[in-house]
Amino acid sequence: MESTKYVHGYSEREALRLNDQAATLDDIIHNDSRFSKESLVLEAGCGVGAQTKILATKNPDSNFISVDLSDDSIREAKGMIKSLGINNVELMQADIYNLPFNDETFDSVIICFVLEHLHNPTQALNELKRVLKKGGTIVAIEGDHGSTFFHPDSKYAYSAINCQIQLQKQNGGNSNIGRELYPLFKSVELTDISVSPRMVYVDASRPQLVEGFIKNTFTAMIEGIGEKAIKQGLVDNSTFEKGIKDLYRTAESDGVFSYTFFKGFGTKN
Ligand SMILES: C[S@@+](CC[C@H](N)C(=O)[O-])C[C@H]1O[C@@H](n2cnc3c(N)ncnc32)[C@H](O)[C@@H]1O
Repeated sequence: MESTKYVHGYSEREALRLNDQAATLDDIIHNDSRFSKESLVLEAGCGVGAQTKILATKNPDSNFISVDLSDDSIREAKGMIKSLGINNVELMQADIYNLPFNDETFDSVIICFVLEHLHNPTQALNELKRVLKKGGTIVAIEGDHGSTFFHPDSKYAYSAINCQIQLQKQNGGNSNIGRELYPLFKSVELTDISVSPRMVYVDASRPQLVEGFIKNTFTAMIEGIGEKAIKQGLVDNSTFEKGIKDLYRTAESDGVFSYTFFKGFGTKN
């Protein structure tokens, strides 16, 4: 089942990381996540609801159905949405490859940080397209680990990042999928496709991003796969530890870190 293949796992720490990531990136990736009044939006792969709360709050006049494969994540998301008093979201367990909705149900679909984990993103996009009304838009937001650069440079840090890329590949995913959004959207015959790169550039003059992005989003993600990577012999302990130390080093007063997300828009004809 797909859930066992999800490389980051479903730990409490990962839930915290997803929430930190969403809050930190809100302005950069969701500044234009606006849906028309009264529209019904499918959020596919909502996880613990980290993006859900942002999307629902930004679009109080739209209604969201947010689904995820993981029952536990849906339970957690339900608790969070209820505690925030958000009332335009319905959460349910569902598989993106086999959605329990009729054709042409939704005005828009949004999928964030999910395609990178799927073994067949084309099949998933076709299923999302099926439940989308004609004239509706699919929005996909994905990262691309190949877009990472930093100062001071470190081959150890790249080795640690490469472990994540390899593990995700082994699980059938693709950590460098951001650059493929355009061809993926083309392959499922979406039209009016546009892809907008969202660079997260961080230096000490942006302390919120130093904490929220370098430390709590990116390095926390790489750190989280260390045990698995070492166990599988992808890297030795000392190289991985140096890599993590060097990633944290980029968060110091003379450090620089850059990563690019990609946000794709495509319309169903
Ligand atoms: C990195 S998390 C992203 C969660 C959320 N979109 C966010 O940005 O915080 C990826 C999510 O995709 C979900 N997922 C993976 N395969 C899925 C599938 N076939 N159907 C539905 N959800 C799936 C996982 O359960 C996980 O919650």
